[in-house]
Amino acid sequence: MAKSDKKSGEGAGPHHVAIIMDGNGRWAQARGRPRLFGHHAGAKRVREIVEACPDLGVKYLTIFAFSTENWKRTQLEVAGLMSLFRRYITKEARDLFARGVRVRFIGDRVRLDKKLVKLMDELEVMTEKNDRVHLTIALNYGGRDEVARATKRLAQDVASGLLDPEKVDEETLPRYLDTYVLPDPDLVIRTSGEARISNFLLWQSAYAEYEFIDTLWPDFSRDVFARLVAKFGAKDRRYGGAVDEIVI
Ligand code: IPE
Ligand code: IPE
Ligand code: MG
Repeated sequence: MAKSDKKSGEGAGPHHVAIIMDGNGRWAQARGRPRLFGHHAGAKRVREIVEACPDLGVKYLTIFAFSTENWKRTQLEVAGLMSLFRRYITKEARDLFARGVRVRFIGDRVRLDKKLVKLMDELEVMTEKNDRVHLTIALNYGGRDEVARATKRLAQDVASGLLDPEKVDEETLPRYLDTYVLPDPDLVIRTSGEARISNFLLWQSAYAEYEFIDTLWPDFSRDVFARLVAKFGAKDRRYGGAVDEIVI
């Protein structure tokens, strides 16, 4: 794909940025505080980053808040995180709505506390007409789990005759994913120095650019975000094509 041939809606910058918000525990540890102190500090960073999106041309922001693997943590940490999510939604809902943010959640809700799921549903409905920034929060999300759940529903549609298996192609599965209404991420950022994706947006990130930075999530700022967005704009994404020929 030539540079001039970008998908509609895409400018030079990333249209959709996804962030693996990592390093809260180490940030707290460095201060001699419990891990939950780091999670609270991390949650506070989200507002500034969401607010920076319109100026940076980022229409979609997807953040990884809790993975399907994070249940392996201590009961104290898991319960603290779940209570933080409930409090975050309750406290931020009005503000998110007023600032034109449309909020969605991806991940499996079945294992989540009913009260939390109710708050998530309500926030999605409350903000469904907003269009300034599309914030997606991945909560009890795992890329493999998402593909497995999607495949199950796809198979059910085949079994009930709604879907012809001969017609299944690479456009079919994404329609069953939690992200079916979202464009694919252009840029995936992971904070805290780990260079792995930890089961995040496996299908959707096939052509994303990755940025692994040392900053711990509670120190992630608007300036760091702006620098990564600008760096993305300078890249030539070829989607499997060749480098653009120089026309003389
Ligand atoms: C990321 O920070 C937040 C969640 C996974 C919920 P961590 O809690 O993983 O922080 P580190 O990696 O231990 O520093
Ligand atoms: C990834 O971070 C999940 C979230 C940021 C929510 P983890 O800290 O759980 O990932 P690993 O264990 O380092 O792979
Ligand atoms: Mg971590």
